[in-house]
Amino acid sequence: MKRFTFLCVLLVHYIAFHIAIAQKRAPRNFPEYGFFLNKQQLYLQELLEFLRIPSVSASSEHLKDVQAAAEWLKNRMLGAGIPNVQIFQVGQYPLVYASITAAVPQAPTVLIYGHFDVQPASVEDGWNITKPFKPRMIQDKIYARGASDDKGSLLSVVHAVEAILAVSQGRSPVNIKFLFEGQEEIGSPDLPNWLLKNRKLVQSDLLVSADGSMYSENTGSIVWGLRGAGAVQVNVTGPSHDLHSGGFGGVVQNPIHCLVHLLESMRYENGSIAIEGFYQGTRPITQKEKDLSRQSAKELETELSRLSGVSQLVGGESNHFDIVERLWFRPTLDVVGIWGGYTDQGIKTVLPANAYAKLSFRLVQEQIPEQVVEKVIQHVHLHCPVGCTCEAFDLGFHALPFESDPDMLGNQVLRETLLDIYQGEEPKYVRSGASIPLIGFIQKEFQIPAVFLAFGLPDENIHGPNEFYRIGSMDKARRAYVSFLYHLGERYQWERNAKKPEETPSVSVTATTSTSMKEMEMDHSEL
Ligand SMILES: *[C@@H]1O[C@H](CO)[C@@H](O)[C@H](O)[C@H]1NC(C)=O
Ligand SMILES: *[C@@H]1O[C@H](CO)[C@@H](O)[C@H](O)[C@H]1NC(C)=O
Ligand SMILES: *[C@@H]1O[C@H](CO)[C@@H](O)[C@H](O)[C@H]1NC(C)=O
Repeated sequence: MKRFTFLCVLLVHYIAFHIAIAQKRAPRNFPEYGFFLNKQQLYLQELLEFLRIPSVSASSEHLKDVQAAAEWLKNRMLGAGIPNVQIFQVGQYPLVYASITAAVPQAPTVLIYGHFDVQPASVEDGWNITKPFKPRMIQDKIYARGASDDKGSLLSVVHAVEAILAVSQGRSPVNIKFLFEGQEEIGSPDLPNWLLKNRKLVQSDLLVSADGSMYSENTGSIVWGLRGAGAVQVNVTGPSHDLHSGGFGGVVQNPIHCLVHLLESMRYENGSIAIEGFYQGTRPITQKEKDLSRQSAKELETELSRLSGVSQLVGGESNHFDIVERLWFRPTLDVVGIWGGYTDQGIKTVLPANAYAKLSFRLVQEQIPEQVVEKVIQHVHLHCPVGCTCEAFDLGFHALPFESDPDMLGNQVLRETLLDIYQGEEPKYVRSGASIPLIGFIQKEFQIPAVFLAFGLPDENIHGPNEFYRIGSMDKARRAYVSFLYHLGERYQWERNAKKPEETPSVSVTATTSTSMKEMEMDHSEL
């Protein structure tokens, strides 16, 4: 009899669960959306204020501005009703941290990540619509450095949480931790150690990144992979000082020639990277990965052509992998800067004393930035042409690659949210060739799965001149965060209710550990 009741309970939960899923197909409205009405002008003014702070982390003269952006954000979060907002000094950079406890017992914990520092920008780079830190609105766009990456999405997180707290009298559906950093654009050098020392602040069931982008204006994306990164500088030295190219040419080795030769030795003709051990940690692309990438391949190739302005897409291991496969699943090695000798007007017949290059690489799967850096440095030492001295050193830009299961619970909830926001339009399952250092690190060190909920779009010139953000993305972003946090809370309740009958009372679900989520996923699939 007991067994029968148990099965009935299980069946009811199972049916209810699937009805709930089915019901969620229609876009849902939340009372918070009403709270947003008539606030667009206010929110816009806030974003403009935030964008006027030149929080460039790469430049020491802007350190005080990075600090100012942290203070600004902290005050705005306090204004939103978020308690105990703190600024921690992590290395030289501020980190804004806060947490909210859910009204529901045993609710899941989300860690919302974003950054308020920005890339360097100057008018000379080609900013001809406005100055980088004088935001300007033209039609539906707002031009300023940091508008798309990442202040726009970041501010909407605060607006969403403000609405939830206001509408529900402070009762949040989930536990929320906020981790907003000020050193993302320089590769978050000081953060990993700090996080390891402050594990409690990080512990959560799911990481939600407010840094990233959507597929297009009308289609959301579920990002299930990012490449990692690393960077090295090469210094080549020849004679002790610049020499007359007539007096010494043909006798003394030219460091620029050494450098070019050295760089050339790093690649085979077929585009494969020739550095010994570089590919360690990579593996063949799986059938599932191929299938998922094929879904977006055509559109993505067109988009890459359009955005890059080149007549033909080449590069990398051109003959062996499709374009999308190269972007998503293969590592790269790029010379990102090269200099030496005389480059001013006219000609100076000099045999230079030095030549330099900066290299960056993108990494995938199990590649580890520190190890790849080491391999590149070894290669420089082993292949230095006779007559030159070659030095190479780590530029400290490290990012672990990130991968998630496209079907994990967090991505399922994300899909439900994106269906809401994009009027039932199915999101695209995509990866990005770019890197967010902290996401791979948190996943690896803390075993916290990550999802991306950010509303920048691929054409918004992030890191380049005339960066912009679509004003309409602000509304999407704040509604999405409201929707996501409620969906997540509910989904946990469903998973938990469906699970309950199987448990002995003493073994309660500990929602604050990252394993609980995986257990729940497995239980669901067993149903
Ligand atoms: C800004 O520069 C770009 C690239 O050089 C050019 O295509 C565009 O027409 C310029 N816009 C204005 C408003 O000058
Ligand atoms: C390499 O060159 C740069 C630029 O001149 C210099 O600042 C740096 O100290 C050099 N490093 C090594 C290891 O030679
Ligand atoms: C490219 O050429 C090198 C050297 O001939 C070879 O070892 C490597 O396997 C080739 N790469 C691919 C992807 O075929």
